[in-house]
Amino acid sequence: MIDIHSHVIPGVDDGSPDLETSLGLLRMAAESGTTDMICTPHVLEAGRGLDWDTITTKTEELQAEAKKHRIPIRLYPGAELEFNAELLDILKAGEGRYCLAGSFYPLIELPALSMPPHIEDFLYELQIRQFVPVIAHAERHPVLMHDPARLLSWMKRGVLVQINGGSLTGFFGEKIQERAKTLVENHMACFFGSDAHRLEGRNTDLTEACKALRQLAGAQDADAILEDNPRRILEQKPVFWEVPPELKQKKKKGFFQKLFG
Ligand SMILES: [Fe+2]
Repeated sequence: MIDIHSHVIPGVDDGSPDLETSLGLLRMAAESGTTDMICTPHVLEAGRGLDWDTITTKTEELQAEAKKHRIPIRLYPGAELEFNAELLDILKAGEGRYCLAGSFYPLIELPALSMPPHIEDFLYELQIRQFVPVIAHAERHPVLMHDPARLLSWMKRGVLVQINGGSLTGFFGEKIQERAKTLVENHMACFFGSDAHRLEGRNTDLTEACKALRQLAGAQDADAILEDNPRRILEQKPVFWEVPPELKQKKKKGFFQKLFG
């Protein structure tokens, strides 16, 4: 299994605070079946916050520590890029900087509670520069999930979507769990991530989340989401992921249905 979203590098963002925690998170990941993990610390201000060279150096240092402690996991540098128009200045075609495992897939985090007015233009600008945007934990974005058809329209144009394992198990609450299920059921989840920050709570153990995914998506799609699609990121190959022409959503139960089932 390949985890494409994690905050396991110690002391660079709000994720793992120290090496001991990081090693605990890596051990937990390996024990739950993760073989490869992309380290995606928050890059909050394009070009001014954490820089790519620091991320790659720190990833290598953590990999060396994992090896020293005999934890069988392969680490790759990446970033969770907070939406910012200036990202277009720091992402340079063909260089792989700030992209998942140095590929052409940037992991984009939308603003927590709002939708940037020119988001479609921004995504298009990335795409004409040969990048394939991956939207981080789309199910957690209230504005986007209020109108999942809008997300589907992005995906029809080649945008990809990562969901958090914890969303499917209900870690972020029932509402987000339902949204994550909607994405999986509509073939709109392309990648899984732990988005792990600490040993307690949002950690790197994806055991239960994988079970939930397999049950919901079936073995073939689960394998694609957990292994085949992210493997193509690591190998810098295109990911082919078909989305349905239209969204199917369960109708919300009315008042009387809720009362009488
Ligand atoms: Fe994250």
